[in-house]
Amino acid sequence: MARRILIAGNWKMNGLEKDGLALASDLAQRMKSGSTDTFEMLVSPPFTLISKVVDTVAGSGIHVAGQDCHSAEKGAHTGDISALMLKDAGCSYVIVGHSERRTDHRETDEMVKAKAQAALAAGLNVIVCIGETLEERDAGKTLDVNRRQLHGSLPDGATADNTVIAYEPVWAIGTGRTATPEQAQEVHEMIRSELSDKLGAGAADGMRILYGGSMNAKKAGGVFAQADIDGGMIGGASLKAGAFWTIAQNFA
Ligand code: PGA
Repeated sequence: MARRILIAGNWKMNGLEKDGLALASDLAQRMKSGSTDTFEMLVSPPFTLISKVVDTVAGSGIHVAGQDCHSAEKGAHTGDISALMLKDAGCSYVIVGHSERRTDHRETDEMVKAKAQAALAAGLNVIVCIGETLEERDAGKTLDVNRRQLHGSLPDGATADNTVIAYEPVWAIGTGRTATPEQAQEVHEMIRSELSDKLGAGAADGMRILYGGSMNAKKAGGVFAQADIDGGMIGGASLKAGAFWTIAQNFA
């Protein structure tokens, strides 16, 4: 099955209105004028910019994602945002389980799964992030850790249409150190095989698995050439339209 490539820009806690909207507008123009039927693009701005980014990219085909959501629909959770609120603001996706959330907010697989389920219940698509630390890799536990996180975080009701997996080794995020194409492919292949056991071959074959971690234009070609890598989640390099676009052009 041909999987549609997804290039996702995770802005993290970056972007005041002026810069964020200029970036969104630049990408929207490029999407409208480029030949873009070979990949899909997604941006994940901070919560404060979501509505305005949704307006800015309207008509360009760019998906807008939240960077996290609460597992409850509403209620007494000061500072949190529900999946339904993201949907209401115009998002079509939400990222859950990013390693920065797992570290900074002590999110467990159980919590990530609950968030992912809330996302699906709200009618959002979900990007579920998993990835090992350097310590775990050095101890030879890479496949075990990712297998455990995958099974622990995958929402019930996951399909190839509503769920994307992002493999993001923690040691590669924001460090300038990217997994080699072979290291990434090894984990992606394991993920697809686990998905096949759990969801069936058809769903596993159609589900997109993104790589993330210090992706840049130079490294993208090698990583994206791997059989089980269906796009990328890009942090730092997604904050400049030109750099992000160059990465996407590997699929043009
Ligand atoms: P990076 O971030 O590209 O800055 O390493 C990737 C991510 O955390 O999604």
